Amino acid sequence: MKKRIAILGSTGSIGQQALNVIYQYAENFEVVALTTNRNVELLAQQVKAFHPSYVGIVDTESAREFGNYGLSDTEVISGKDCLVKLATLPEVDLVLVAVVGIAGLEPTIAALEAGKNVALANKESLVAGGHLVMEAARKSGSRIIPVDSEHSAIFQCMAGCDDPRRINRVYLTASGGPFRNYTKEDLRHVTVNEALNHPNWKMGKKVTIDSATLMNKGLEVIEAHWLFGLSIEQIKVVIHPQSIVHSMVEYIDGSIIAQMGKTDMRLPILYALSWPERLESTIGGLDLAAMEPLTFEMPDFDRFPCLALAYKALEIGGTMPAVLNAADEVAVEKFLKGEISFMEIPVMIEQAMKSHKAIQNPDLNTILRVDHSIRRQLM
Ligand SMILES: NC(=O)c1ccc[n+]([C@@H]2O[C@H](COP(=O)([O-])OP(=O)(O)OC[C@H]3O[C@@H](n4cnc5c(N)ncnc54)[C@H](OP(=O)(O)O)[C@@H]3O)[C@@H](O)[C@H]2O)c1
Repeated sequence: MKKRIAILGSTGSIGQQALNVIYQYAENFEVVALTTNRNVELLAQQVKAFHPSYVGIVDTESAREFGNYGLSDTEVISGKDCLVKLATLPEVDLVLVAVVGIAGLEPTIAALEAGKNVALANKESLVAGGHLVMEAARKSGSRIIPVDSEHSAIFQCMAGCDDPRRINRVYLTASGGPFRNYTKEDLRHVTVNEALNHPNWKMGKKVTIDSATLMNKGLEVIEAHWLFGLSIEQIKVVIHPQSIVHSMVEYIDGSIIAQMGKTDMRLPILYALSWPERLESTIGGLDLAAMEPLTFEMPDFDRFPCLALAYKALEIGGTMPAVLNAADEVAVEKFLKGEISFMEIPVMIEQAMKSHKAIQNPDLNTILRVDHSIRRQLM
């Protein structure tokens, strides 16, 4: 039987790659619902190709525009609530959460509460509300299958042995981004275009800037903490510029298991969609003998303070990671608009964290309230 899938954020980088995968495995998957924020032109193309029963369009103005495409066989749900509605449809088996930012939090929790398995690309939901997401999964027995390549790697390396007491540590690999060898002085002058030019991955703008500041790796540390029940001390970051080893797990006997593969997000997406099965892929393996040497080095917390801020937020806990996330989203947006410089991103985030007294064990409303207030404060 085909797995019935809802893709939240189908017009983004992950969403489009997921549809590319699904297209190749038409006998395995059926697309039930797709969503966009405002890119109705691309959404209309996707509807023509995949014939979903529903689309969700967050921006109501764009939803009206979608009417001009005459795709009347597909039901349109518009407004912010569309994500939760489509994530909880009875006819959906698996929800791929591929929206960017805090917008992923409520639909992820709703999907898990409704008993859906979730293929999770949206790391911000775990950063801001990891305890709520994991609690929702625990209560319903639903599974979260990570899409982020590092967490997919850890998930695969832990297959058959996911007891955190048997694990010494995990190594999250990071390419180091476009500015790996830049001095602090160089970093003061980098442009938006330079920051958007990631050496190994083609991604959405927000995650690309996060990769350049290493905030992406910081968010992934928090993501790993929640997904795998690991302590801060158990989560290490290592710079691996070739992006071939996607992450590693070191067990208590000293054995390290690494997952390697081509630098292609369609691989972890395919694994998340097909799990617990593995499907044959045309992407292929690695030519080991032709590969450049694999290198590993420690990250520089001084030149890339966002990584240290993320560890700090995780250590403080409660609402602090939500503050880190909201401040990062605002700072990245401001950087992309040319309103602040690259090195002002961590400054802005640190100031937001200093201005906030963390509330422990926050419920969803508290997290969303803190998120809004930090955004208002920084805008
Ligand atoms: N791209 C990657 O290779 C990659 C790898 C690992 C993890 N991730 C994670 O996956 C998530 C998606 O990343 P991406 O690179 O695919 O992002 P992206 O290209 O910016 O796409 C984001 C998607 O979310 C929609 N969206 C934006 N704001 C929204 C809102 N407020 N409410 C609802 N939907 C909204 C966008 O719609 P519009 O098209 O209308 O803007 C688009 O469909 C992020 O959390 C990222 O960290 C990405």
